[in-house]
Amino acid sequence: MSLMRFAGTGLIRSRLRLCLFTGLVCTALASTAALPPVNQPPSLHESFASRFAIGFGTEVTSGARMDLVHRHASIVTCENSLKPGALRAEPDVWNWEKADAWLAWTESLGKTPIGHTLVWGYMQPKWLLERIAAGKMDATSVLRWQDDHIRTVLARYGERIRIWDVVNEALADGPDDAYLRNDPWANLCGEAYVIEAFRSARAAAPRAHLRYNDYNLEQPAKRARLLRLLKQLEAAGCRPDSVGIQGHWTLKGPPASEVEAAIIEINAAGYSVDFTEIDVSIYAWIAGANLQEPRNETATPPGYQTLPDELQAQLTERYREVFRVFVKHADKIGRVTFWNVDDGSTWLNVWPVRGRPNHPLLFDRQQQPKPAFWAVLGEAETCLPTTTR
Ligand code: GLA
Repeated sequence: MSLMRFAGTGLIRSRLRLCLFTGLVCTALASTAALPPVNQPPSLHESFASRFAIGFGTEVTSGARMDLVHRHASIVTCENSLKPGALRAEPDVWNWEKADAWLAWTESLGKTPIGHTLVWGYMQPKWLLERIAAGKMDATSVLRWQDDHIRTVLARYGERIRIWDVVNEALADGPDDAYLRNDPWANLCGEAYVIEAFRSARAAAPRAHLRYNDYNLEQPAKRARLLRLLKQLEAAGCRPDSVGIQGHWTLKGPPASEVEAAIIEINAAGYSVDFTEIDVSIYAWIAGANLQEPRNETATPPGYQTLPDELQAQLTERYREVFRVFVKHADKIGRVTFWNVDDGSTWLNVWPVRGRPNHPLLFDRQQQPKPAFWAVLGEAETCLPTTTR
């Protein structure tokens, strides 16, 4: 196996050398005619095409960042503009402009768009959460609002966006007995909101691929809650098409063995798995960090402006080990999406500590591939049938 991997890496290197050589020759021969860039590393999505789709979660980008999306992704998830808080920042007003622009951009690149997310109880529009907190809405009116929201979004985009995260992050974390996350939506409606969300989405877009999406599903306690939720959804006739594991990980965890256990167990329950928001923070998680409240940089040590070699090596190994698991279980995985494109655009530069540089992705701030990129690509190569090497 290790010999095969070595052979695969060698193949990548020789391909790259060929690309560079071809690039030099073409540059020498070309006059002013525009040639496609030939001195590029292999495309991630093409390299994994026989196993699973590869994508990025991003808003509209341009320049070198857009080139990365174009080259390495076949799917693109809308990072923010389709969230309820973005579409409906104010009562009775729909803000479609950014979502329209994102969809047009994604289509113009020839990529498959993924809608994210129809419902996110923890991050619903602020004004709506305030109304609920003030006791002005009961469960019935919340569910009516949600149904109207889902049907309106799918009426506009359902024909063009065929893959949707229907509900994001409904489940509780931690080892205690809580089932659902402590958020206003769940506290008012219980699991009925998840069931009704899938019912509404299925009715409005019968042919769409509908996902349940959450984080920490590698942890057995949270996964047990997921399996309970899936059973409830099945019993209600509202089965999702797949489960999304976000994959916001760190250098330290979760262990690849837990990622593997999650894939196997969710698949055994009858669901394929998508990894929907992968990144690997080089810092440890801060307990109790809250998405709505990033801390200021001064609150902690300032972090690394550039990635020290030792952490670069750890990042590379981390990506290698999880992609080895992905490739091993490729028959159970539909899509793998990185959350943001390169280290310059990652949300982890502003959360959980505002202004602390992070380096969690395969491409650096100059949009150049990092060693982790080559490690990931090496995993694609290891399993090519010998005849195609
Ligand atoms: C969660 C959400 C994403 C995004 C990230 C932070 O994982 O699902 O949409 O907001 O947090 O960027």
